[in-house]
Amino acid sequence: MTVKAQSGIDQLDQAQRNRVYAAAAILNNGGIVAFPTETVYGLGADATNPAAVQKIYAIKQRPASHPLILHIGSIAHLEHWSRDIPETAWMLAERFWPGPLTLILQKSRYVPDCVTGGQDTVGIRMPAHATALALLNAMHPEKAIAAPSANLYGRISPTTSAHVQAALAGKVDMILDGGPCEIGLESTIVRADHQTVSILRPGGVTVAEIESALNRSVSLAYNSTGQTVRVSGSLPAHYAPSTPLKLRTKAEIGQQALDLARQHFQIAVVTWSAFDPLSLNAPGIRHIVMPSDPIEYGKQLYAALHQCDRIGLDFILMETPPQKPAWLAIADRLQRASRAHHET
Ligand code: TXA
Ligand code: MG
Repeated sequence: MTVKAQSGIDQLDQAQRNRVYAAAAILNNGGIVAFPTETVYGLGADATNPAAVQKIYAIKQRPASHPLILHIGSIAHLEHWSRDIPETAWMLAERFWPGPLTLILQKSRYVPDCVTGGQDTVGIRMPAHATALALLNAMHPEKAIAAPSANLYGRISPTTSAHVQAALAGKVDMILDGGPCEIGLESTIVRADHQTVSILRPGGVTVAEIESALNRSVSLAYNSTGQTVRVSGSLPAHYAPSTPLKLRTKAEIGQQALDLARQHFQIAVVTWSAFDPLSLNAPGIRHIVMPSDPIEYGKQLYAALHQCDRIGLDFILMETPPQKPAWLAIADRLQRASRAHHET
């Protein structure tokens, strides 16, 4: 990737540049801007302005102990925001930035406590989206954007500006549109210190890609049953649609759908494998066919769940994803979504 491509602004037309400058001015003045990234939309504030950062927690209804990710516009800024950076972190940043990878590192004195939830570590990411990079680089060089995903606490992340609008209209100073998100799932969170490298949240970069970049194995430090770590995405009830979601195998799904339809429930059946649509031909059943490729599936997953919420259904029956490494982040999000509703 060239330096030019990383500044972002050159890839935007004049109208989008003007919107980016307006957004940067809002952030510089302590306002809140929802902005696009390649993973999901973020809810951004000037990371160096504690009053602005506090607004994010209030808008999201997120507990203050759940830290935000610091977004930077250049790999060169990493040393300003963190210290004692291990060699593995440099290797990962050089390999995957800009991109869907968040590094958990020792924070520098420039990172306010409200960004990190009082911890001595900070999550840092350089996003790969022209509008996001342009916005970051339009701000003062000693500023960065603190941002969680632009959804209410515990809900599904937005992958279009319309999703943000539906959840946060009137609560933010500006929603910067950058089209649908390329990846559609949140970044992979990696904690790197001088001894170990561990994955805290599976996401846009796969475990295999990280292991191959480092030429060593890494540990998985998350589970879907809800351990008490300070990663909000590790709560079991995270990433949930408001419609109850049940994960079912291909063998179970057809019969269950028909049973629920017979009881006059409105349901969506979401499948990825070859599935006979006629077996679901009953009133009250909507069949949503997802791609069988994990990259494409990941891109569309949240939009499909948002769509189900919008329609107002009684249940979503979701076909269990393949147990393959490339599906890890998808399986993680679906397990959490299904646990949120005490399913039997
Ligand atoms: O793709 C993404 O990462 C998106 C886009 C907007 O960049 N952001 C995102 O933010 O998913 P959020 O806040 O929804 O999830 C960030 C996760 C949270 O679970 C948070 O607890 C964790 O990162 N995190 C942030 N700083 C941390 C730290 N110092 N130690 C452990 N976890 C941290
Ligand atoms: Mg989130």
